[in-house]
Amino acid sequence: MTDRDTWWTPWREAGDSLILHVDLRPDPGCEERALALLDDDEQARWNRFTVEGAGRRFALCRAALRINLCDRLGCSNRELSFGYLEHGKPFAKINGVPSSASFNVSHSGRHGLIGFTKQEGLGVDLELRAPGRDFDGIGSSVYGPRERRALSAAAGSDKEHLFYRFWSLKEALIKALGTGFSLSPTRFEVPQPMIEGEPSALFRFPHLPANLFWLEDLGESRFAAARAYRLNTEDAGLTDTP
Ligand SMILES: CC(C)(COP(=O)(O)OP(=O)(O)OC[C@H]1O[C@@H](n2cnc3c(N)ncnc32)[C@H](O)[C@@H]1OP(=O)(O)O)[C@@H](O)C(=O)NCCC(=O)NCCS
Repeated sequence: MTDRDTWWTPWREAGDSLILHVDLRPDPGCEERALALLDDDEQARWNRFTVEGAGRRFALCRAALRINLCDRLGCSNRELSFGYLEHGKPFAKINGVPSSASFNVSHSGRHGLIGFTKQEGLGVDLELRAPGRDFDGIGSSVYGPRERRALSAAAGSDKEHLFYRFWSLKEALIKALGTGFSLSPTRFEVPQPMIEGEPSALFRFPHLPANLFWLEDLGESRFAAARAYRLNTEDAGLTDTP
């Protein structure tokens, strides 16, 4: 597994948007090539990771992000750097100037996702499912009443899948917004059609009614996953109400 050209592959592609799957299995050859692409700040961050595998996940995802952003933005790796918004959401800079590139990254275990889209405000999330947890108990502190009702009505592996489906949908939304968990996940709920099983829906945060998002469930057998991005309501001619 050391002679691969790339450790990422296209996973979902539609129109302007692309999501790459990043293979985060241990691979010293890829890790060495990835590390060489990181700048001083990123290498210093890589050095600070203590949790097993965390440095590898960061380096492989960040280097894949760098290579693909350079390709999309027409710049060299040296010209590319990252800035961070208030709650840590990264944005790309070319020669120190912020670019409008819209991307987001998620990694868990041996899988990573990197999303790109034209729309600003993109969030992607990937969650490995861990069986046998107290899903109703955990759900009672992070989910809203409609989500909790749906969760308690499910049993066995359906409950596990629903728990991680809701989790990835909600995390994609708070990553699209850029707040991360500084916004409590109890302050909003997955749209009703998606609670009932629809794969996608429009969404508005109750405290931000002017912002419309598109939310999609991208889960598959290996992991739960979701994407959310902000829609420009004027361009899209959308007039729904929350
Ligand atoms: C954003 C957040 C939900 C990501 O959690 P995570 O378990 O690391 O999840 P993921 O693997 O899905 O995402 C990690 C990636 O998201 C991106 N990211 C980091 N902060 C982000 C934010 N605020 N919004 C969107 N994306 C963010 C980064 O690219 C990061 O990958 P990298 O570190 O390799 O560059 C979490 O870090 C968070 O809540 N941050 C905000 C914390 C905060 O402000 N807390 C205040 C007190 S509660």
